[in-house]
Amino acid sequence: MKIQLSSPDLLDARTDCLVVGVRENAQQPQSTRKIDKATKGLIGSLMRSGDIDGRPGSALMVPSPAGIEAKRLLLVGVGDKPDVDDFANATRAAARQLCSSRSVSAVVALTEIAVSGADPRARARMLSQAIEEAGYRFNQLKSAKGKEAARRECTVKRVTLLGGSTKNDASMRKGIQEARAIAHGVSLAKDLGNLPGNICTPSYLANQAKKLGKSHKLKVNVLDEAKMKALGMGALLSVSRGSREPARLIIMEHQGGSRSDPPVVLVGKGLTFDAGGISLKPAGAMDEMKYDMCGGASVFGAMVAAAELNLKLNVIGIVPSSENLPDGAANKPGDIVTSMAGKTIEILNTDAEGRLILCDALTYAERYKPAAVIDIATLTGACVVALGHPATGLFTPDDDFADELIACGETARDRAWRMPIWDEYQKQLDSPFADMANIGGRTAGAVTAACFLARFTKNMTWAHLDIAGTAWHSGANKGATGRPVPMLVRFLINRAQA
Ligand code: BES
Ligand code: MN
Ligand code: ZN
Repeated sequence: MKIQLSSPDLLDARTDCLVVGVRENAQQPQSTRKIDKATKGLIGSLMRSGDIDGRPGSALMVPSPAGIEAKRLLLVGVGDKPDVDDFANATRAAARQLCSSRSVSAVVALTEIAVSGADPRARARMLSQAIEEAGYRFNQLKSAKGKEAARRECTVKRVTLLGGSTKNDASMRKGIQEARAIAHGVSLAKDLGNLPGNICTPSYLANQAKKLGKSHKLKVNVLDEAKMKALGMGALLSVSRGSREPARLIIMEHQGGSRSDPPVVLVGKGLTFDAGGISLKPAGAMDEMKYDMCGGASVFGAMVAAAELNLKLNVIGIVPSSENLPDGAANKPGDIVTSMAGKTIEILNTDAEGRLILCDALTYAERYKPAAVIDIATLTGACVVALGHPATGLFTPDDDFADELIACGETARDRAWRMPIWDEYQKQLDSPFADMANIGGRTAGAVTAACFLARFTKNMTWAHLDIAGTAWHSGANKGATGRPVPMLVRFLINRAQA
């Protein structure tokens, strides 16, 4: 899809679909008035008849409108004094309608709508991102016949956002460019997440990283089990021992800053299928544990976006990848393993495997002397109980870092909510036999998981994002969401500009 900014004459624009905003009571936007006049009051009469009322999120597609050149006219409710939420509703509705029409080209005038809390750049970004994301389909595993039956492909190829004032055009172009990179990252994260465990294995992820290394000029290095063993990654390797697929530690580097700049490091859980191991999960919806690599997928997405935006920042993505299956060689409850940091861990539940692979990857991250480290993981069901699906759980002992990340989530509309990580919780991880246990009991499961990771990140500015509730949707329309790629990319863009 190609999205660009330009200022065509709306009445003469030969496009498949012209998209304009409709207010509820206030005076209509300039483009809307112009088109209403050219169509002899069509919009006014549709409002009087109640076919469209201007509420944010409402939309009406008018085929073959007389009086203008466009093949279709899409009216989108924007409310009277839209805030960012209203505008997001409007952009989503517009994008959905546009993609379900048979349009190939479109001209979108919603850029002219004033939105409290969103400057022209943010508006252009929101619109472009909504349009790019509405076109996402995951049909690659349907047969040709099944593809036809599946939801139809989005036909939209060329979108023109209405510019106009030279003052704003440059920043709107920036917004479009950001949206494109974010959308590419999101769709990569969705694709990897949606792929099943029999295809998306640790080796598959490693090969994808190598491909991205070529296409996006990332430096990619993959450690196999022998190399991890030499590093002493006993926690990570204990998880993959019960699986026939060998583990991989995938490292991707974007060098956009100068050589000596300390990098931002993103560490993503890449558990390509989590059956729980000997502490086997119940059968219901176990298929969804193919999504247990979504943290890793979001690191792939963020790296690709950083490269596409050519960010002046050093970014390192680390994805520890393994399966977690029951087997004669698998971890058993009571086993004690030694992590790369030298700390010993009593594994009381083999299903708390994410922290085992992450702790070694976090220790590995230390060698980069990072400016900041963020780990991203579908870590606990408890986080879903605590926050549901709207918010990612954010854990960090650093107040400034917490504020920075929360603000990035707000701007990107990909929000996180801070959870405690106080020392008071640490005692739940006490073990009589090892330095720590890998679970902290029934209460505060998301917090004790974060507390476990905190023991391995004492020497860095660190935050943990628990995305168990945000990384995918369940139900009939199940699928990966691509979160928190938008938040991570916002963070990287801001750091690159700082
Ligand atoms: N991958 C799961 C967490 C998860 C569960 C994500 C449900 C999304 C939905 C993780 O490896 C896990 O199994 N965690 C356990 C931890 C427990 C044994 C302390 C959990 O949450 O049940
Ligand atoms: Mn698990
Ligand atoms: Zn897991």
